[in-house]
Amino acid sequence: MKKDSVAKSKELTNDIKTILEKYELVNVNKHDFGVYQLSLNRPKVLNALNDELMRQLSDVITLLQNHDARCFVLTGSQKAFAAGGDISEMSGKSYAQVTEEQYVTSIWSKLEQRHIPIVAAVNGLALGGGCELAMLCDIIVAGYSATFGLPEAGLGIIPGAGGTQRLIRAVGKAKAMDVILSGKTLTAIEAERSGLISRVIDDDKVLAEALYIASNIAKRSKPVISMAKKVVDYAHESSLKNGMQYEQQNFYATFALEDQKEGMQAFLERRKPNWQDK
Ligand code: CAA
Repeated sequence: MKKDSVAKSKELTNDIKTILEKYELVNVNKHDFGVYQLSLNRPKVLNALNDELMRQLSDVITLLQNHDARCFVLTGSQKAFAAGGDISEMSGKSYAQVTEEQYVTSIWSKLEQRHIPIVAAVNGLALGGGCELAMLCDIIVAGYSATFGLPEAGLGIIPGAGGTQRLIRAVGKAKAMDVILSGKTLTAIEAERSGLISRVIDDDKVLAEALYIASNIAKRSKPVISMAKKVVDYAHESSLKNGMQYEQQNFYATFALEDQKEGMQAFLERRKPNWQDK
C-alpha cells in the first residue's frame, strides 16, 4: 500500500461538526478526498443495531452524501463490527407491531438508496443484522479474526435485513443454507474464498486498508462511480426487491410464533431455548 495514497485525517468544519454532535451512536471522522469514516458506537452491547442507531446511521449518511462525501468507510470495534439486531428491542414485539411499523425495512431501505459507496471495515463479529449491514455495503474488508454469521434461526426468527437474499447471491445456495439453517459461521478466510468479502488482512490494518480503498474510489469521478455502483447493483440485485419483500413477510411472520418469544427470552436469560415448534 502506498502510504501517500491513504486518506489522511482532516478536521470537520464547524457547521457540520455541530450537526454531527447530536448523533452519539455514530462517530464521524473526516479524511482527505471526501472520505468519511463512520464508526458504530454501542460498545457495551457489541454494537447491537437498535432502531435509534440505524436511524442515526441513515441520517448521517444522507447528510454527508448531500454535503461533500465521496466514499464512506463503515466500521465497528475490534471485538465487533456488530453483533446483530438488538434482541432486547426485538424480543417483546408482536407480529402486528413489526408489520405495522415495517420493522427494520422502514429504516434500512433508506441506506440502500444511497449513491455513495460504502466500504465495510470488519473486525471481530459480524452476526445477524451486523452481517447484513456489512453485506449492504459495497465492498467488505475484514481482519483475519473476523467472523460472519446469520444466527437468527437459533433465536426463533429468520434474517430480516436482507440476509437470506444477499448471502445466497454472494456465496451460493449450499453455503448460504449452511449458514442460515445450521448457524455455521464463516471465518474471514472462508468468507473471502466464498466471495462474500473482497480482502482479508491483519486485524490492525483493516481500517487503513478500507480507507485506502475508499480514497482510491473518492479520487475518481463522482458521477462515474455512482453509475458504476448502480449498474453493478442492478446486475447483482435485479431480483432482490421481490426477494426482500418475501423475506420481510416471513421475518414478520416469525413474530407470530411462540418460538420467537422463547428464543429471544432464552438469549436474554442466558439459557438454552425450549422450542415449542409453534
Ligand atoms: N442484541 C442485544 N444485545 C446484545 C446482542 C444483540 N444482538 N449481542 C450482544 N448483546 C449484549 C449482551 O446481551 C451483553 O449485554 P450485558 O453485558 O448487558 O449482558 C453484551 O452485549 C456483551 O455480550 P456477551 O456478554 O454475550 O458477549 P460474549 O463475548 O460472551 O458473546 C456473542 C458474544 C456470541 C456475540 C453473544 O453476545 C451473542 O450471541 N449475541 C447475539 C448474536 C445474535 O444472535 N445476533 C442476531 C440478532 S437477531 C438479528 O440480527 C435480526 C435481524 O436480522 C435484524
